[in-house]
This record gives sequence, structure tokens and C-alpha cells, in this order.
Amino acid sequence: MKRGLVVLYALMVTLSLQASNNKEIKMEAKTAIMKLGKTLKGEVMKNMKAHGPNSTAYFCYKSAKRLTDKVNSSYPKGISVKRISLKVRNKNNYPKSPDEIKMLKNLEAKVKAGKKLPKLIVEKISANHYKVYKPIFINKKCLVCHGDAKHRNKEAYKTIKAKYPHDKAINYKVEDFRGAFVADIVK
Ligand code: HEC
Repeated sequence: MKRGLVVLYALMVTLSLQASNNKEIKMEAKTAIMKLGKTLKGEVMKNMKAHGPNSTAYFCYKSAKRLTDKVNSSYPKGISVKRISLKVRNKNNYPKSPDEIKMLKNLEAKVKAGKKLPKLIVEKISANHYKVYKPIFINKKCLVCHGDAKHRNKEAYKTIKAKYPHDKAINYKVEDFRGAFVADIVK
């Protein structure tokens, strides 16, 4: 009986440690993802206001990687964040591991079935390795460069097509699932 209690207690401690660990992972991921999201969004908006869609499309081509690398270099050790999608403009943004492809397919299927996605999804890869996903959705502002022929900016899309001949990231509608930010965390 006593032994049973000890085992139960040990189990409870383990579970609560796991829960607090998960919470900490989520917080770290959220902070890192927000930083990249805000940087990219801020720069795109600034360019859009000052120079319009065509010049901003070129800016995205020129600067998306540089900005992503710059923000990544500011993170604590063991954390990195990227954007992935199943329908990519830049093939470097296609997920490089099967678990990421599986996750995107799962999320997409849920959205198609009319389900609401959680804000963050934590996946434990191994004892000290986590991936945290934040789904990305299309809003009205994205259509200029990711919408159908009717909504795209013609000039901007000419620039995009010239730089990304194999672009798949078009014909999206508002509220479509676009992909995800993934925070990779090694503890
Ligand atoms: C001015 C044009 C423009 C606008 C507006 C724009 N994008 Fe993009 N987007 C691009 C370009 C160009 C790339 C490719 C960047 C690169 O080479 O990594 C891209 C890449 C992406 C990627 C990375 C995956 C991929 O396909 O390569 C995601 C995710 C994305 N955009 C989401 C969005 C969302 C969500 C919005 C609206 C909030 C948005 N974009 C608005 C031009 C734009």
C-alpha cells in the first residue's frame, strides 16, 4: 500500500513537471515566433505604404531570408524559427522533415473539416527536442501577392513570377490555411 502511494506520488510529480516544462516550451516558442512574425509583417507593411505592391514583392524576394536569419541570430541558444508551407513560393520554405509535412497535412485537413486550430501546437520529437507550430492564415492583405488572378496585383505578380517561376503560393482566399511558423527547440 505504501509503495503504491510512493509510485503514485512519483507519477504525479513527473506529470506536473512535464506540464510546466510544456508551458515553458510554449512560452519560449511564442516569444520567438512573435518576434519573427512582427519583423516580417512590419517590414512588409512599411514597404507597402511607402512604395506599393510591386516594389514590396521585390523586397520580399530580396529580404525574406535575410530578415529571417537576422531574427534567428537574436534568439537564445537552441531555438530557431522558420515558415513552412505545402504550397510554396520559395522551395526552401518547403518542410524538410516528414514530421513537419505530416503536421501541415493534419492541420490543413482539420481546417478543411471546419475545425478551429489551436494557437500553438507542441510536438515532442525526443527527450529534449520540441517543435512548436503556429498556424498561418490568409487575410485580405495577402491577396495582392497570394490571391487569384482577380485579386492579385498584376505588376507585383509579374515580378514574383519572374523570380519564382515555379510559384505555387497563389489562388488563396481569405481565411485559407497558408502554412505555419515552426519553432525548433532543443533543451
Ligand atoms: C508584396 C507581396 C506579398 C505579400 C503582400 C505577402 N506575401 Fe507572402 N510571400 C511573398 C514572397 C515574394 C514570398 C517568398 C519569400 C522567400 O523567398 O522566402 C512569400 C512567402 C511567404 C511564405 C513562405 C512560404 C512560401 O511560400 O515560400 C508565407 C508563409 C507567406 N508568404 C505568407 C503570407 C501571408 C500570410 C501574407 C499576408 C499576411 C503574405 N504572405 C503577404 C510575397 C508577399
